[in-house]
Amino acid sequence: TLNNSTNIFWQEYPVGKAERQKLLNQKGCVVWITGLSGSGKSTLACSLSRELHSRGKLSYILDGDNLRHGLNKDLGFKPEDRTENIRRVGEVAKLFADAGLICIASLISPYRKDRDACRAMLPDANFIEVFMNMPIELCESRDAKGLYKLARAGKIKGFTGIDDPYEQPLNCEIEIQQSNGVCPKPVVLAGQVVTYLEEKG
Ligand code: PPS
Repeated sequence: TLNNSTNIFWQEYPVGKAERQKLLNQKGCVVWITGLSGSGKSTLACSLSRELHSRGKLSYILDGDNLRHGLNKDLGFKPEDRTENIRRVGEVAKLFADAGLICIASLISPYRKDRDACRAMLPDANFIEVFMNMPIELCESRDAKGLYKLARAGKIKGFTGIDDPYEQPLNCEIEIQQSNGVCPKPVVLAGQVVTYLEEKG
């Protein structure tokens, strides 16, 4: 992307990532949760951070909806705004991972190229993409915020899954699906992610 900053230099810091990780007794990484509105991203993020915390692991949630109250308050839902939203959160997530934390990013992040760009910011094993693969019918039936109803009524334009695309991941690390028409409990899903993180060290 365009870089408008010129005559800039990279400053090295006295304490590095390895030292921070040693202090925290954990490895920094990004767990990137993607999926439709109402697919359970935030619920999984909360459950995962609780599970990690109880194991003595420091995590921090970056939630799309919440960040749009501050850092990203200037952005809407046009494709270029979503792309900038994801880019910014990717950069922030990278900083958190560098700080040694397990950064849990929870955003619709509907466009594959944007998620892949975030992945490319980090060493490969440090970006764990979790796809909440829930049928839109389920998300719409939940409609916790009433947004699907508004989108169907044409009162919200460009709503993901209705009149704006969601591009499914092709190579995600973890895919969450219903089994026999039932969505596993958040704590079970969180356990699945924790097991993955443990196995990968
Ligand atoms: S994105 O696409 O990744 O930039 O979106 P994100 O930052 O995760 O924000 C998604 C939340 O914004 C609300 N919302 C919309 N979602 C999708 N499309 C449109 N047009 C839209 N307008 C508002 C909605 O509450 C999303 O929250 P979640 O938690 O995903 O349900």
